[in-house]
Parts: sequence; C-alpha cells; structure tokens
Amino acid sequence: MNNIYHYPNKQRKLDEPTPNDNNDTRAIVDSVQVQRFAVEYDYPVVFTRHAFDPVNLHLLDVLRRREPGKRHRVAVFIDGGVAQALPHLAGQIQAYFSAHHEFLDLVGDIVVLKGGEECKNDPDFITNLLQILSDKAIDRHSYAIAIGGGAIMDAVGYAAAIFHRGVRHVRFPTTVLGQDDSGVGVKNAVNWLGLKNLVGTFAPPWAVINDGVFIDSLPAREKRCGMSEAVKVALIRDREFFLWLESNALALARFETVPMSYLIKRSAQIHMNQIANGGDPFESGSARPLDYGHWVAHKLERMTNQHILSHGEAVAIGIAMDAHYSVLAGLLPAGEDARVHQLLVTLGFKLWNDQLETRHESGRLAVLQGLREFREHLGGELTITLLNAIGKGIEVHEINDQWVTESIAWLKHLK
Ligand SMILES: NC(=O)c1ccc[n+]([C@@H]2O[C@H](COP(=O)([O-])OP(=O)(O)OC[C@H]3O[C@@H](n4cnc5c(N)ncnc54)[C@H](O)[C@@H]3O)[C@@H](O)[C@H]2O)c1
Ligand SMILES: [Zn+2]
Repeated sequence: MNNIYHYPNKQRKLDEPTPNDNNDTRAIVDSVQVQRFAVEYDYPVVFTRHAFDPVNLHLLDVLRRREPGKRHRVAVFIDGGVAQALPHLAGQIQAYFSAHHEFLDLVGDIVVLKGGEECKNDPDFITNLLQILSDKAIDRHSYAIAIGGGAIMDAVGYAAAIFHRGVRHVRFPTTVLGQDDSGVGVKNAVNWLGLKNLVGTFAPPWAVINDGVFIDSLPAREKRCGMSEAVKVALIRDREFFLWLESNALALARFETVPMSYLIKRSAQIHMNQIANGGDPFESGSARPLDYGHWVAHKLERMTNQHILSHGEAVAIGIAMDAHYSVLAGLLPAGEDARVHQLLVTLGFKLWNDQLETRHESGRLAVLQGLREFREHLGGELTITLLNAIGKGIEVHEINDQWVTESIAWLKHLK
C-alpha cells in the first residue's frame, strides 16, 4: 500500500470491509447516461477612442446590454503603469460614472494595481483581488472592469472568473498585444509554483473595449512588441493583410495612429474568427493554430530575461526562423522567408539573440528542448504550425533538427 498517497493523512486500510460488502448487488444493472448541452457565448468587442468621454456610450451600452433598466454595480481596477502614464484617467472614469449615474454605480474607490508580469507572479495578488471584490460586495450580476496590459487582464480576469464561480468581466486592454491578441480571447491565467500560466480558466469576457488612446501612451518598445502577433496572424491566415503590412511598414515603424489602429483591428478580427470558427475555442485538442513562431519564442523567453527579450520580440524571431524552416521543408516558396524577415526588420525588430546558439553538453541545441516543452504544454502529439504560403498556415507533427540548425544559421547570417 506504499504507492497510495493519503492527503492530508487519513489512513483507510483498503482491505477493510465497506458497509456494502455483504449486500447482494447482482440486481443492479450498469448504465451510462450521456449528459449533453451546448452553451452559446457572445460578447461585443468595441474599437473606439476616448471611451471615458461621457458622450461615448459604448461602455454604458455594454453594461446595460442584458438589463437596460437596471442600475449596474461596477468595480474598476487599473494597471499601475497605465495610471502613471495617464494621471487623469481615474478622474475621467469617475466623471463618466457621475454623468451616467442613473444606470451606473461605481462601487467604492477605483483600485490601482501593480501591473506587468509581477502581478501574475505574486501568490497574494489573487487573494487580495478576491478580498476587494468581496469588500465591494460584487455579485454575479455586477461587473469587474480591468484596464491594463495583458498581465492585469489575466490576473483580474482569473479572479473575476473564480469569484462566486464567475462575475461579469469587462476588459479594457491597454497594450497592442492586449488589443490585437490576448484581450479579445477567452483565457486568463496566473503563474503558480514558478510555472507560467499554470493556474487559470477559459472564461469569455462580458465585453472588450479597445480604446486607441491607451496605445498612444505606451512606450515604443511595447507598441512594437504587439505588432509581431499581427504579422503572425497575417502570415497564417490573411495574405491581403500581410501585403497591407508590407505597404505600411514604415508608417507602422513610426507608430502612426491610423495604421496602428487598423493593424490592431484586423489582427483582433482574425483572432476572434479563430476562436469562433476554429472548432476548438477552449483548446481541448493538441493544436494551437495561432501559435505560429511560438515554440522557439517560448523557449527563448525562458532562456533569456524578460527585460532582454520580451514575448513580442521573441515571437518575431520565432516567426522569421519558422519562415526559413518552412522553405527548407519545401512548404514555402524560396524568397518568401526573406520577405518575412524584411518586414519584421522594417518594423524595428532585432531578429537575433545569442541564446539561439546555446548547446547542451550533448551538443544538441538548447532551443530544440523547446519542442518537447511545447508538446507537453499542449498535451497530445507535437503540433507545430508552419507556412504553406504567405497567408496560409499548415500543421506538421515533426521537426527536423538539421533544418532548425540551418534556420538559426540563416538568421545569424542576416543579422
Ligand atoms: N490570456 C491570453 O490569452 C494571453 C495571450 C497572450 C499573452 N498573455 C499574457 O499577457 C501578458 C503580457 O501582456 P502585455 O504585453 O500587455 O504586457 P504587460 O501587461 O506585462 O504590461 C507591460 C507594461 O506596460 C505597462 N502598461 C500597460 N499599458 C500601458 C499603457 N497604455 N501606457 C503605459 N504603460 C502601460 C504595464 O504596467 C506594464 O508595466 C503576459 O503575462 C502573457 O502571458 C495572455
Ligand atoms: Zn504570443
């Protein structure tokens, strides 16, 4: 019985007779009942500017969309980085709620939270959020609004999903990555036991409001990082969008407002389409079709410090590398890889990191270990998205070490 682990430490001898042992159960017939139901989700994703100007009615409309006559109780959480960049934001939100007090009730103070990955790493963070939601008496018909980067969306989204088994959650993503990728999705997570996104849920939001004004205040590096996800979805899903990115690359590199807002909107639409029509919104299969370029990126992120290489920068490297790999695999016409590389460089990405050449004692490239980790993360068989054409992804289940090595040499040569 040594192989049975009792937690906490309740010991029960397995050979102890259970109360039913002497009953004659032959009259009981086995049966399997199949339980089946479908739940439909819908949530608005709004693209706007100045969402907290009292004349902008999007927020009011999304909060009232199920119960228009009611006064809605709302808790508001803001990313500390956003609050610092936009010192008038809290006042604007209060003014918005005052202007619409007939329908909106801002419960207590606006809560400013420390933003960035640190909030996902702090084990007390979720407990504190749950305490705040409890103090504000938020119930399943009230709202928790989160305004911030992808990390704050993930942490507040997770707390909102588990508090009372789920309260209504409205997202205001404030980074390019948040608006063009993570914010429109159905996932949340925090880091636990030292592992990235170990604990989280699939929980569609009540609504997403992408306000372009937040992008204006982002540091240049953050603006650029989110663009690699747009290049990624263009490459695997939408050739037209890729051609548009090529034509507008210089304006995008200068972060001009109009092309930036189109990039965000088109990328968000493609992500939304994948969730709605890709057949696996809650990722129960072993493919992550939108994670093109990500197996290398995830590994590089772990091998470097986030301050040296952010997710978006690592993804840009992964995208370029897998474009060349796709050519070596005979999937993508030669020369298309150079186009991908050129676009990313024009957008301002640096497509080299010395860690790409790190080798284990065995002589094997350390990034190749990322393949195993990628498969383990997804469960099931290894599934990697490559390119069949610009605008068309293709899934493969094997990766050739030699072609990975050659793809790294190609990136080094072009650096
Ligand atoms: N749930 C998902 O589907 C999903 C998908 C992709 C990524 N993510 C997660 O998103 C996180 C990364 O998000 P991110 O790239 O948005 O970065 P982030 O949330 O870490 O924010 C980066 C920094 O920018 C600051 N900031 C945010 N908005 C700002 C603004 N408008 N002006 C000034 N500063 C601002 C933040 O305070 C933070 O210091 C990761 O934790 C990642 O795991 C989640
Ligand atoms: Zn990504």
